[in-house]
Amino acid sequence: MTLYPAPTTLPPRFDQRRYSLLQPPFLIVIFPPPPPPAGGEGKGDGPCNPLHSGSCSPSRIRSRERLIDSSASSFSPAVHSLRMPVLFTIIGICAIAALLLAAFGPYIRRCAGGGVCTSDARLDGKTVLITGANTGIGKETARELARRGARVIIACRDLTKAEAAAHEIREDTGNKQVIVRELDLANTKSIHQFAENVMKEEKLINILINNAGVMMCPYTKTTDGFEMQFGVNHLGHFLLTCLLLDLIKQSAPARIVNVSSFAHVFGRINFKDLQSEKGYDGGLAYCQSKLANVLFTRELAKRLKGTKVTVNSVHPGSVKSELTRHSFIMSLAWKVLTFLIKTPKQGAQTSIYCVVAEELQEISGTHFSDCRPAFVAPQARNEETARKLWDVSCKLLEIRWD
Ligand SMILES: NC(=O)c1ccc[n+]([C@@H]2O[C@H](COP(=O)([O-])OP(=O)(O)OC[C@H]3O[C@@H](n4cnc5c(N)ncnc54)[C@H](OP(=O)(O)O)[C@@H]3O)[C@@H](O)[C@H]2O)c1
Repeated sequence: MTLYPAPTTLPPRFDQRRYSLLQPPFLIVIFPPPPPPAGGEGKGDGPCNPLHSGSCSPSRIRSRERLIDSSASSFSPAVHSLRMPVLFTIIGICAIAALLLAAFGPYIRRCAGGGVCTSDARLDGKTVLITGANTGIGKETARELARRGARVIIACRDLTKAEAAAHEIREDTGNKQVIVRELDLANTKSIHQFAENVMKEEKLINILINNAGVMMCPYTKTTDGFEMQFGVNHLGHFLLTCLLLDLIKQSAPARIVNVSSFAHVFGRINFKDLQSEKGYDGGLAYCQSKLANVLFTRELAKRLKGTKVTVNSVHPGSVKSELTRHSFIMSLAWKVLTFLIKTPKQGAQTSIYCVVAEELQEISGTHFSDCRPAFVAPQARNEETARKLWDVSCKLLEIRWD
C-alpha cells in the first residue's frame, strides 16, 4: 500500500463518491508507485500511477478500479462516514495516553516501585539463612542483609549459580561472611542433609527466609512424588523450617519470613487431590502453593507463641525476575507492563522490612506487602484449613510435632 498526496480533483475515471474514505491529506492507494519511465510512459506491463489517468490502458484501470471497489464496497455508506471520526478518536486517545504517560510516568513508576524499608537497623552478629538467593528477589534480599553485617547462608540447588551470586554480593558489600550451601527443595533427602549440616556448622540461625519458588511449570513431580509447585513452595519449606526450628528457637529473638504472593487470593487447598493427579492447572497449582504459604505462616505463628520467634508472610509485588520462565504469557505480560513491574531490589523491600523493622519485634502471623500489613483472602484466614494443612503436611513429610 502506498500513500499519495491527495490531488484537489481526482481524475475523471475515479468516482469521488465511491472513494469517500480517501480524503486529504492523503489518498490511500493500493498500487505500488510507478517505476522510472523506461521506453515510454504507460506502455508495456509495468505498474503505473492511477492518478495519471492517461498513463495506463483503459482495461488495466478498470481492473484496478475493481480492486479498489472490492475493498471499498464491502462497507456500507454509514460505516464509511463513521470511519474518519473513529480513526481521529483513536489517534486522539493514543496521543492523550502518550502525553499522560510522559507527564505521570515517573510518578507511576515510583508508585509501582512500592514500599521501601526505611529502617537502618544493622544485623552484625546475626545469621540469616535464605533459600533461592542465587537470583531475583532472594539475591537482592541477601545483598541488603549482607550489607547490614549479617552472616548470610545462601541455600540453592545450583552451586555454580549460587557461588557466582555469593561472589558478587561479597564484592559489592565487602562482607566476606556470605556462604553457599546446597539445598534442593524438590528432594526431602537433600533438605534433611542440608538441615543436618547447618545444625552441625552454625551456632545460630536468627533469620530464616523461605524465598525460593517455582511458578507454572509443566506437570512434574519432586523426587518424593509431590506435585512440583506444592512440593517446593510449600512442603520443601515446611520441612526445612521444622528441621531448623530448635536451632532457631535457641537463637531467639528470631524471625521467619515466608515469601508468598497475592496469588494466594485465587488459591484453594484441594485436599482431595493435593498433588493435582486428577487434573493439573499450572496457575491454580501455584496459587494453591502460595495460599499454603500463608496458612502455614498463620498456623506456625500460633504454635510459636511465647518462643520469641515470629513468622510472617510477604507478597513482594510483581517483580521482574526469572519466576516467569515457564510461562510465555506471564513473560509477555511482564514485558508489556514493564513500567508497572518492580525491580528485584524493589521486590526485596518487604522481606527486608520483615527481617529488620524494630516495630515488628512482637508481630507474628501477619501478611505484608509494600512494607505494611496486606489483605489476606478469607480462605487464608480459615483456621480449620490451616490446621488440616498442617496435619496433612506433617503426614506427607513424616514429621512428628510435639
Ligand atoms: N517475581 C514476582 O513477581 C513474584 C510475585 C509474587 C511472589 N513471588 C515469590 O517470590 C519468591 C522469589 O521469586 P523470584 O521472583 O525471585 O523468582 P526467581 O528469580 O525465579 O527465583 C526463584 C529462586 O528459587 C529457586 N528454586 C526454584 N526451585 C528450587 C528448588 N527445587 N530448590 C531450591 N531452590 C529452588 C531458584 O533456583 P534456580 O535459579 O536454580 O532455579 C531461584 O533461586 C518466590 O517464592 C515467588 O513465588 C514472586
